[in-house]
Amino acid sequence: MSKESSAKIKFYNGENIPLELHKVRVVQKLHLVPIERRLEALQEGGFNTFRLNTRDVFLDMLTDSGTNAMSDMQLSAMMHADDAYAGSQSFFRMQKAVEDVLKKKYLLPAHQGRAAENILANAYIKKKGDLIPMNYHFTTALAHITQYGGRIVELLYDEAYNIASSHPFKGNMNVERLEEVIRETGVENIPFIRMEASTNLIGGQPFSIANMRAVREIADKYGIKIVLDASLLGENAYLVIRREPEFADASMAEVIEIMTGLADIVYFSARKLSSSRGGGICTNDLNIYRDLEPLVPLFEGFLTYGGMSVREIEAIAVGLYETLDESMICQSPQFIAYLVDILVAQGVPMVTPPGVLGAHVDAMKMCEHIPQTQYPAGALAAAFFLISGVRGMERGSISNQRDENGNETYADMELLRLAVPRRVFTLSQIKYVADRMTWLHRNRELIGGLKFVYEPPVLRFFMGGLEPVSDWTQKLIAKFKEDFGDSL
Ligand code: F0G
Repeated sequence: MSKESSAKIKFYNGENIPLELHKVRVVQKLHLVPIERRLEALQEGGFNTFRLNTRDVFLDMLTDSGTNAMSDMQLSAMMHADDAYAGSQSFFRMQKAVEDVLKKKYLLPAHQGRAAENILANAYIKKKGDLIPMNYHFTTALAHITQYGGRIVELLYDEAYNIASSHPFKGNMNVERLEEVIRETGVENIPFIRMEASTNLIGGQPFSIANMRAVREIADKYGIKIVLDASLLGENAYLVIRREPEFADASMAEVIEIMTGLADIVYFSARKLSSSRGGGICTNDLNIYRDLEPLVPLFEGFLTYGGMSVREIEAIAVGLYETLDESMICQSPQFIAYLVDILVAQGVPMVTPPGVLGAHVDAMKMCEHIPQTQYPAGALAAAFFLISGVRGMERGSISNQRDENGNETYADMELLRLAVPRRVFTLSQIKYVADRMTWLHRNRELIGGLKFVYEPPVLRFFMGGLEPVSDWTQKLIAKFKEDFGDSL
């Protein structure tokens, strides 16, 4: 597979430009609606960017989930999908790709990543209070673990919480603490250890292979399984090659094989891992396979489709092989680094080093004047959409769940994530994002807080409704018009 990477292409003029290593063959028209319409859209959508209609969105930076560009090979594979309830050839092609790329021979299909989390939590959380140590939680993983009576403990090193850092592997698990936690809790109360590749909620930050090897040693010492959330595995592997000297000359295939080889169970959201849809769980351990097997027909569908369409399954198979191609994976992290570097130079507080999945703005710092009780990251997401038409995602306290007594649990970080799905945006669009964010940063004191008017009990950030605590949106619009005139 190709080791071409835009990181390796130098420009004569010395500029550091992430060159696209693909060409665009199918396009979709975008709309940049006037600022007044963007305000109405926010009002209709409860100031929650999840609830916007994409007809009102210019650049959709909500997520990379299911929005990465598909390749010509994926689209053509979808045409020869084999429709069958049981024994579809499409499934066997996916199984072969999982075996070739992730090096696991038993595959349990699931309709997306959280469905895999549901199956794992159902199978392994056996009693109230069972504890899952992890580098950091992801919203849906936490929701499923707690749904079955489990608890989690997050074991990052302190440096991970240092937003502006140069540490290359902020997703590393604190192995000293891991061992203490195991001793304090008792092996019998720890169903598995969860490692998340490219730790999403702290800004898409990777772990190193040295760290995962250390986690494996402890897991072996105490006989505990490791579950790897591989949804962002390709990007973690790419950053291992760039940042961990031992692997500077390694291929994506070699790094991925080492990482999955250190885990007993690998699960993934194929919406992220292979630019398609769906998900799955895989392992080389027949006993584990047998533990999980009955749950797939119960929750997902028959074992050769698991809630997915056969067309999605074909796209996953091709997408998994493409994950081994550095030129496929490099574009998004390179664009993110480009965006982060511009914004840092403009004084915008960003998560550094640049991670994967998206660029992350530190809303706690940018909106210091907004108390955490008024959701600074949610407010920044709304304000940025208002002045740019760019839709990001709140990754702060709104995305947190309340504790068992119904109290707010404030997030460690209040981030606005601007996702950069693979091979979707052009460099001028990225420059537009940087320009509008720079302007908003200079006018940040105009942004005000939000309050909930409708709060669902589970995963409230998806459909919750909020409203501004004051009339700050009008002030922001007035300043925008003063500076940009009749620009959209
Ligand atoms: N694990 C990680 C690390 C994820 O980022 C996600 C989804 C999941 C599991 C769940 O997978 O969506 O297929 O059910 N992340 C998306 C995001 C939603 O926008 O970051 P899913």
